[in-house]
Amino acid sequence: MRKSSFAAAAAILVAGTVFAGCGAAGGTLIGIAMPETHVMRWIKDGASLKKFAEARGFRAQDQYANADQNMQNTQIQNFLTQGAKAIVVGCVNDGVAAAVADAARDKVTVIAYDRIIPESADYDYYITFNNFKVGQLQGQGIEKGLDLKSATAAAPKYITLFAGSPTDGNAFFFYDGAMSALNPYVESGALIVVGPYPKTSKDTANFQRIATENWQASVAKTRMENLLNGDAKDVTLDAVLAPNDTLARAIIEACKADAKYANKLPVVTGQDAEAASTASIKNGEQYMTVFKDTTKLAEAAIILAESAVKGTTPNIPGAVLASSIGLESIGDTGKKVVKAYLLDPVIIYRENWSDPVNAGFYTQEEIAQNNLK
Ligand code: GAL
Repeated sequence: MRKSSFAAAAAILVAGTVFAGCGAAGGTLIGIAMPETHVMRWIKDGASLKKFAEARGFRAQDQYANADQNMQNTQIQNFLTQGAKAIVVGCVNDGVAAAVADAARDKVTVIAYDRIIPESADYDYYITFNNFKVGQLQGQGIEKGLDLKSATAAAPKYITLFAGSPTDGNAFFFYDGAMSALNPYVESGALIVVGPYPKTSKDTANFQRIATENWQASVAKTRMENLLNGDAKDVTLDAVLAPNDTLARAIIEACKADAKYANKLPVVTGQDAEAASTASIKNGEQYMTVFKDTTKLAEAAIILAESAVKGTTPNIPGAVLASSIGLESIGDTGKKVVKAYLLDPVIIYRENWSDPVNAGFYTQEEIAQNNLK
C-alpha cells in the first residue's frame, strides 16, 4: 500500500477539494481503488488505469488496500471527499457495498473492475474478462497436457484441485469453467481427483476446502505440502488445477521440494501471465497461463468512466456485453444485473510464451528481470 505522509495527504485533500469544484475535464478526479499488491498484476492495473485516465485529461489517484476491505472503503470515502466523479474499484470482498452506496448517494459513478461488486444495486457497469472462459482454458490446458482424450480408466491420470479466494466472485466462474472441461473425464474414470472434489462451485463445503483465502501464496503452498504428505502421498500427481499464477508458483515450489517430482512436475495451470510465470512457462515448469491483457481492461474501464461522467454511450473496442452471449449471470450482483463488458482471454503455452511480450504487456524491467527476451 502506497503510504503518503500526513502532510502530503493533507495537501492532496486540499488540492483535491480546490480542483473538485472546477468541473473542467482537466480537473475531474477519477479514483482508482485496487485490492492489494501481493498479487503482482494489481500494481500493473493501477498504473495502467492512471495512465489512461490522465491521457484522457482526468486527474487520477491510485490506492492499494492490502486485501483489507475496510482500508479500501476508507480510500473510496477519501476519493468522495476530494470530489471524484468516478471511481474504478477492484474490490476485496462484499464489504465494499457500503462504500459504493455512499458513492451512489453522492451521484458518483462506480465501475466494478475485474471483480463483481456483490450485494449492491448502487452501480451500473462491470468490466472484466470472460471468466468462465478463463476457467475453460485452464481445463483445456490440463486436457492437452495430460492428453486426456487418450486417457482411460484402465490407466487414469491423477489431479488435485485448488480454487481462488471464496471472497472473489471470479473464483467461482474460473472453477466452474475449468470443471466443465474436466468433469467428463472424472465421470469416465480417466481422471481421478486426489483430495476434495466439488463437481461445481455450488458444492459449497468442498469448494471452501479447496479455496485459497485472499489468493495468498503461503496458504496455497502450505495446502500443497499437506496434500503431498497426506491425500497425495501414495500417488504421483499428473496435474494441479491452480487458479492463478501467484498460486501456481507457490504450488510448484512445494512440488519441487518433494523428491517424487524432482524430474517431472505435474501440469500446473495459472492465469494473469505474470512475468515470473511466463518465465516459468518458457523454462518448462508452469504448464500454461491465461493472458488477460489488463492494459486493454484498464483502457476499457476509463472509457466506461469517461462515458458515465460525460453522459455519453460507451464504445469499448474488443469488449462484448455479457448479456449478448448468454453470460448475463457474470453481471449478477445478487441485488441487480449490471452491464458487464467482457474482454477475451488468451491461452499461453510454452510454444507461444512470447505473446504477452509481443503485446507490450511487460515493462522493460520485467523483461530483463525475468529474461523474457
Ligand atoms: C481475480 C482476477 C484474477 C487474479 C486474481 C488474483 O479476481 O480475476 O485475474 O488476478 O483475482 O488476484
